[in-house]
Amino acid sequence: MPFFNDINLNNWKESEIWTDSLWIIDKRDKTGKHDGFYHGNFVPQIPRQLILRYTKKGEVVFDPFVGSGTTAYEAETHGRHFIGVDIQKNITDQVRLKVDNDKYFSEIITGDSTKDTTFSKINKILTDKKKKNVSLAILHPPYADIIKFSGLDADLSNSKSLKEFLNSFSLVLKNTISILENGRYLAIVIGDKYTNGQWIPLGFYCMNEVQKLGLTLKSIIIKNMEGNRAKQNKEGIWRYRALSSDYYIFKHEYIMIFKKN
Ligand SMILES: C[S@@+](CC[C@H](N)C(=O)[O-])C[C@H]1O[C@@H](n2cnc3c(N)ncnc32)[C@H](O)[C@@H]1O
Repeated sequence: MPFFNDINLNNWKESEIWTDSLWIIDKRDKTGKHDGFYHGNFVPQIPRQLILRYTKKGEVVFDPFVGSGTTAYEAETHGRHFIGVDIQKNITDQVRLKVDNDKYFSEIITGDSTKDTTFSKINKILTDKKKKNVSLAILHPPYADIIKFSGLDADLSNSKSLKEFLNSFSLVLKNTISILENGRYLAIVIGDKYTNGQWIPLGFYCMNEVQKLGLTLKSIIIKNMEGNRAKQNKEGIWRYRALSSDYYIFKHEYIMIFKKN
């Protein structure tokens, strides 16, 4: 029985946990507090699978790019404590109103996850709650500049170059790893992008940043991606453009799992 989850191996055939490296998710779960309003959010099934696989009830889940709170609501539903950060005050204010703090705490911080000052606040919360560290970190950063989340300079989606984006991402990683329990897991959810006719393997660059900080890569999961093109019925136009050129249309993103040794 793994020490890091509550999966009942006596009943393993009934388990709802996915163990394959290909996740085809046909529709977003919009039940409970998930409403899917936030452009650039991930489907709740991603944090759900990660929380159930890599944490036990009563442990702390951390998300330094909390956005519309998808990870927060999943943590709450599954009986995990939660700490989340986002740089946009309007969005953290909304999430803070939606989480409940009944049996499990859910702390939503407005701040910049590249900064030590933000993590001083997190360390204070952990001390106040009598927790030494977090047991799982889920990072869903902006995919560089694909979606501009805000006008704030410190927003990673406003990085002026790939190098600047990766430097900032690495700072968030360092801070996150400093509060992650040894022997536990960190997941990044990331996709690639095209710039000036060139495929930029953002996912692998980000993977590299985590590995440089000494974490062990455990899995690369490929997940299908149904983006705005499908929603706007623009798939035909994109297929035509791809056929008349030399590229393929993005249909996947990565969920990469690392272990802190
Ligand atoms: C891809 S979204 C995360 C979406 C989230 N997983 C959800 O389901 O709603 C990335 C988030 O990172 C936030 N962000 C960008 N730079 C940041 C920074 N330096 N510190 C904290 N949050 C940041 C953006 O405001 C945005 O909400």
